[in-house]
Amino acid sequence: MKISWLLGVVALVLIMSWVHGFEVTAAPSVNPLLVGLTLIPSAADKGAVCLDGTLPGYHLHRGSGSGVNSWLIQLEGGGWCNDISTCVFRKKTRRGSSNLMEKVVEFTGILSNKPEENPGFYNWNRVKVRYCDGASFSGEGYNQAAGLFFRGQRIWTAAMEDLMSIGMRNADQALLSGCSAGGLASMLHCDEFRSLLPGTKVKCLADAGLFLDAVDVAGGHTLRSFFEGVVNLQGVSVNLPAACMNHMDATSCFFPENLLAYIQTPLFLLNAAYDVWQLQESLATKRADPHGYWQECKLNNANCNSSQIQFLNGFRNQMLNSVKEFSSSKENGLFINSCFAHCQTERQDTWFAKDSPRLANKEIATSVGEWYFDQAGVQAIDCQYPCDKTCHNLVFSRNHH
Ligand SMILES: *[C@@H]1O[C@H](CO)[C@@H](O)[C@H](O)[C@H]1NC(C)=O
Repeated sequence: MKISWLLGVVALVLIMSWVHGFEVTAAPSVNPLLVGLTLIPSAADKGAVCLDGTLPGYHLHRGSGSGVNSWLIQLEGGGWCNDISTCVFRKKTRRGSSNLMEKVVEFTGILSNKPEENPGFYNWNRVKVRYCDGASFSGEGYNQAAGLFFRGQRIWTAAMEDLMSIGMRNADQALLSGCSAGGLASMLHCDEFRSLLPGTKVKCLADAGLFLDAVDVAGGHTLRSFFEGVVNLQGVSVNLPAACMNHMDATSCFFPENLLAYIQTPLFLLNAAYDVWQLQESLATKRADPHGYWQECKLNNANCNSSQIQFLNGFRNQMLNSVKEFSSSKENGLFINSCFAHCQTERQDTWFAKDSPRLANKEIATSVGEWYFDQAGVQAIDCQYPCDKTCHNLVFSRNHH
């Protein structure tokens, strides 16, 4: 008893840092569903391979009962690589090679098979597509000298063709989702996904994908420079919406604030207004904050002083402005809570639990469900920090960064 309690506490604060990405291990859920990795053999002939040339893959748990012809696709996230050295590093990790991927993963939150954990989608076919390209499933290219395959777009296509062949072509409803880099990917591929399933009810959900072209704490453009590297190195521009490319440069079209106007499929944006990934990796990086004035605030929102909160409220305002046009369509959904979080769909404690985050007294799972099933319009925007007492704010240990 004591040991499992201790493990839970340890797991809550256990953090692994990553190159331009991080992971948070939440308290283990009780008796989680474990789902094995399936590689996609047909991908090889299509050149649809991970950074290191290995086969891409996914985890699938079949639907049942009334969900047997319903499909949820969750695109995995996990940062990006923006130059040869970060991509060479990445190909030696599970984010760039299926040889190194976990062979089994837990399906929790939006992937759970239990109605009490995932009321809207528990009996759907649920797929987690593994991310191993480093450009949000959207690159096209090859670097011979470094032995790097930039085949994100081909991986997307190969995974969809495989899933269509094993039953998705009979879908009567579908939802394309993803978190972080996967959330951006779900926006980039939303209209393509719908075009695969004509006549079928299709919507998309982007969790923590609202990466803003924001000014960092030093007045620079950290994330724009970073995305520029990703887009140029990995040949992303050929896969961005042509209509956007007619108006602006490729890097701009990779930013949701510009991309959103070109997405025609109903989309739900779920994001924390104080997205901690962006706080740590875009706004207050070590380079932008060499003296570490933001260090304590980055690790724990309780340690942010009033001028830092003021800066972060500017970021929140930029986020709200970026979705103004988007929210004028009633088909689109919004859930922007004033929390220090990142990715709230796959974690059971944020998706649907007794004390999970709420807006208008509705959990995230309830809000997404009512929007998807056309039971209610959902466009929920929180009041400013620290008004929301339902947040599950992420607190990082000191050795992080
Ligand atoms: C907040 O902290 C920063 C960095 O330590 C400092 O420069 C600033 O003056 C502080 N602001 C307030 C209002 O205390």
